Amino acid sequence: MKAVYSDYVESAEYIRSKITEAGQKMPKLAIILGSGLGCYADTLEDPVTIPYKDIPHFPVSTVSYQKGELVCGLRGNVPVLAMNGRFHYYEGWEMWQTAYPIGVFKLLGIEKLIITNAAGGISTDYRPGDLVAITDHIKLSPDSPVRGANIPEFGERFFDMQDVYDKSMIALAKRKAEELGFTIKEGVYGYMSGPQYETPAEIRMLGMLGATVVGMSTVAEVIFAAQCKLPVLCISCVSNMAAGITGAAITEEEVLETGKVVSERFTALVDALVASL
Ligand code: HPA
Repeated sequence: MKAVYSDYVESAEYIRSKITEAGQKMPKLAIILGSGLGCYADTLEDPVTIPYKDIPHFPVSTVSYQKGELVCGLRGNVPVLAMNGRFHYYEGWEMWQTAYPIGVFKLLGIEKLIITNAAGGISTDYRPGDLVAITDHIKLSPDSPVRGANIPEFGERFFDMQDVYDKSMIALAKRKAEELGFTIKEGVYGYMSGPQYETPAEIRMLGMLGATVVGMSTVAEVIFAAQCKLPVLCISCVSNMAAGITGAAITEEEVLETGKVVSERFTALVDALVASL
């Protein structure tokens, strides 16, 4: 059964009580950490760590290398709520469950969301290790995280998707990256439900449709964020070239390894954003 509004309220109340009990300020910015980027959570000062399994109604991530906890801590005196481990459709969750934390973030007073992920590069302008600011997405699967009874407290039944990838945050991210000495490219995220990586024909199709990166996460979160009117900055780390682009086999090790290599750059970028958002 799809969650009801009171479930989100109970999750949010539990999280709020843990943060305030610890004397921490309530964050206005949340970050979802993608594969290989979880180490950002370790950089937060005075952290309050809340395991998903303790939060009423929260799903519990099953991806072995993802921690499954919320960490609320400070970066340069700004409180940040980091999600270390997210929920994917391929784990067996319903799509609404994969986006559940977004409704909870909204109730906690989060005003801006940074979403990160590891993705396969479709555009030959990209190289593994590139960071790409997502400007739009393509979802071919018919499911939606907001299918079923609408929860009016979160927004309208039918809602606009044109501005969810916030243009001002993308511009800021590009500027901050330049200041740090690297370039962020722009791109369109093609969602595939996985867990298998794609076939070369699927990647050719996505490329023809206009996708420049491919991944198995993010889109459900972004859709619910659009309904809740939470502006999103999404940064993909190109962890590998997508199927058929170079012909090299794609492995989970490669995906995680690239995340580790770019984590320093990524941390510097997020810090710069946290300071100016
Ligand atoms: N395809 C789908 N998801 C991914 C990939 C890929 O090539 N790399 C990292 N996540």
